[in-house]
Amino acid sequence: MLTIIEPFRIKSVEPLRQTTVEEREGYLREAGYNLFGIAARNILIDLLTDSGTSAMSTEQWAALMRGDESYAGSESFFRLKKRVDELTGFKHMLPTHQGRAAERILFTVLCKPGHTVPSNTHFDTTRANIEFTGAKALDIPIPEAADTQRRMDFKGNMDVAALEALIAREGADRVPLVMLTVTNNSGGGQPVSMANIEAVKAVCNRHGIPLYLDACRFAENAWFIRQREPAYADWAPKRIAQKMFSLADGCTFSAKKDAFANIGGFLCTNDDRLAQLEKTLLILTEGFPTYGGLAGRDLDAIAQGLDEVLDPDYLRYRIVSTEYLGRHIADKGVPIVEPPGGHAIYIDAARMLPHIPKEQFPAQALAVELYRHAGIRSVEIGSFMFGDAARHELLRLAIPRRVYTQSHIDYVVEAVLEVNANKHKIRGLAILEEPAFLRHFSAKLRQL
Ligand code: F0G
Repeated sequence: MLTIIEPFRIKSVEPLRQTTVEEREGYLREAGYNLFGIAARNILIDLLTDSGTSAMSTEQWAALMRGDESYAGSESFFRLKKRVDELTGFKHMLPTHQGRAAERILFTVLCKPGHTVPSNTHFDTTRANIEFTGAKALDIPIPEAADTQRRMDFKGNMDVAALEALIAREGADRVPLVMLTVTNNSGGGQPVSMANIEAVKAVCNRHGIPLYLDACRFAENAWFIRQREPAYADWAPKRIAQKMFSLADGCTFSAKKDAFANIGGFLCTNDDRLAQLEKTLLILTEGFPTYGGLAGRDLDAIAQGLDEVLDPDYLRYRIVSTEYLGRHIADKGVPIVEPPGGHAIYIDAARMLPHIPKEQFPAQALAVELYRHAGIRSVEIGSFMFGDAARHELLRLAIPRRVYTQSHIDYVVEAVLEVNANKHKIRGLAILEEPAFLRHFSAKLRQL
């Protein structure tokens, strides 16, 4: 059958609210053309992020009731720990309130001025947390990733030669860890192959540098490996994921993505000494090591989600439905990052809107127009988010997990194509007011 169906049915619904174009123009002016400033009730379809926006399953809601809220040694912690042990094999697991808390603790312990932390591509919070310690965050994706139109199976891979060159240049003692983001979010949601993880690990081993996975979307990455790397065609997604983790020395994880949780994360390591230092920081700002900034019920929801996300029926649907959105807009002339990613479709706004220079934030201008026209919220991943570190001007349409149906996606396709038909009228933006760090969350803009 060609029709994509959601491999679940709906038990509880939330109404969506329609607004008019005139109302949305008002909301945009009030928000300073920054979609983070628009109230969610004024959004029709929210593709801002796939993070924390998942619909939980009946089993996850049931797991919440099992949550043990003991301060120390709760049953919920041991249930999560067992699941994470089985999946990742890492010796230590510290729960955190979300991914960036794990990042902050890890980098505080490992990084200092003079250090460089390479990744295939750092996410914005990862980059900011590294730079906050005085170290440098460096992106070394494969060179082919520079061409958004090029179709490759594993366009999220790291450039292994560039990693070797960096270590030769800086010295291994100035590279405290190497990170691989799976899938490569800021690089178009593109997967990383097992062969690339193995190659990066071999370089790390030679120089005694630990390899960490930023594992937010590990299950989607595992599915791509199963589909595209012939040796794994018969492997269950869980077995592939286990192998991915076995090649790393630790991971940061946001349970708000591939664990279908609305909050949560964890930090894992095999290093006893490091774990001790990390636990001290954890207690300082997150909480005791058996809850780390989360309620017991959150730990149970994550444990259940980690099991569900590896279901092949779910992963097949997830990747095919994202691809459906990508193909339906790209085949009608909207330039997207090819091939479609796992959790999101990224429109190449520099290519779509050549009349808007990057200093006028073409992808942000497109985000504004898509909201104005159709009530859809998306997010800019380009010069507005990353400043000079931006490699592309992308508009990300992130798909929350198990939330929207095929007809919602058809509405998004129609809206994007309508915006594309009138793209010449879209105007650039200029920044009016901005904070020092992570400006895309709160800067105010004006239309030019
Ligand atoms: N790493 C990656 C690759 C991410 O995509 C995110 C979050 C984080 C780390 C941080 O995790 O939000 O739980 O603190 N990404 C969201 C997004 C916010 O929209 O892509 P967090």
